Amino acid sequence: MLRGKRILLIIGGGIAAFKSLDLIRRLRERGADVTPVLTKAGTEFVTPLSVAALSGSKVYTDLFDLTDEAEMGHIQLSRSADLIVVAPATADLMAKMAQGFANDLASTLLLATDTPVLVAPAMNVRMWQHAATQRNIATLKDDGVVFVGPNDGDMACGEFGPGRMSEPLGIVAAVEAKLADGPLKGKRVLITSGPTHEPIDPVRYIANRSSGAQGTSLGNALAALGADVVFVTGPADVAPPSGVEVIAVQTAQQMLEAVQAALPSDVAIFAAAVADWRVEGASDRKLKKSKDGLPTLSFAENPDILAHVAQLKKGRPSLVVGFAAETNDVEANATAKRKRKGCDWIVANDVSPETGIMGGSENAVSIISDAGVEEWPRMSKDNVARKLAQRIAEAIA
Ligand code: C5P
Repeated sequence: MLRGKRILLIIGGGIAAFKSLDLIRRLRERGADVTPVLTKAGTEFVTPLSVAALSGSKVYTDLFDLTDEAEMGHIQLSRSADLIVVAPATADLMAKMAQGFANDLASTLLLATDTPVLVAPAMNVRMWQHAATQRNIATLKDDGVVFVGPNDGDMACGEFGPGRMSEPLGIVAAVEAKLADGPLKGKRVLITSGPTHEPIDPVRYIANRSSGAQGTSLGNALAALGADVVFVTGPADVAPPSGVEVIAVQTAQQMLEAVQAALPSDVAIFAAAVADWRVEGASDRKLKKSKDGLPTLSFAENPDILAHVAQLKKGRPSLVVGFAAETNDVEANATAKRKRKGCDWIVANDVSPETGIMGGSENAVSIISDAGVEEWPRMSKDNVARKLAQRIAEAIA
């Protein structure tokens, strides 16, 4: 629910602006108050009249509207909201935000504000992938801007790939996560999730069957309790949580670097199924069949990210949670693992194929802590996540 929440919605100039009309409806259905701002380019795609009708509010379009400056200056407009949502956020608008331009109402509001900002980018695939856009995204993330999407898909311009604006309900979920008032408000939670891919050569890799489902459920559950979630994910099957900071990596080494860069945090949860080994001296060319025999792979040990963070002398999160996916002697192995790694809790589960847990939608876990072993009944991964998030909130309250 978003009852009483004030949202300043900046609609940029892209074909996805038509979805912002539905977004306004969805936000208002949930009780939010929506004040729309249309960029000049935005007015080419949706009319101020339809935006005004759907939002039930005046639509702001012009920086030099003197009446508005008298009634409500741009500074006040930008600060009276609980959240600024930019949807669609075009490449141009994101570039302005990253550089600090203030040459129209939307960019001026964004520069003058101390309100959190959520952006839903929408643009052509090549524009999204361009080094300049990627640099701007990195800058905006560093500045604390939260992203939702873009999604992969067919684009209005006839191409396929990342660049489609998130659907209105995805943006609503991100807004709800960002505005959640809960016991974890103001707490930073770092989560690793998904498998890692360890390259053999440029086209082949070693992976595991982790789908990223449990990590994603946890990200959603913790964000719903108000946490600021940083989600470091390997190449997972399921989409990452909405309204959280997502850092995508491939290998264990990259995951470690992303985790180190994301610290400090109050809580760190290591739900990723990190490959224990990587191929030593992975080839930078595709390996070829040869009459001289089969290729030999030799392995090197990957860094243990959980152990590294759990054993930090300085800046250790107050609660470090590991996972233990076992196929036998689950409790004994997990208890030993907790000691060896130095984490506070271990969430242990049996991933034998007959349990259907790895890659499935349910989980049966035991929580191993100082207090001993607590077995939870089999339930959906979403419910495991909600229960665990509640426990985490109680533990660090
Ligand atoms: O040692 P094992 O892989 O069974 O331990 C599982 C726990 O350790 C999980 O929480 C996993 O995310 C974490 N881990 C890690 N880095 C590794 C291996 C495992 O963070 N290289």
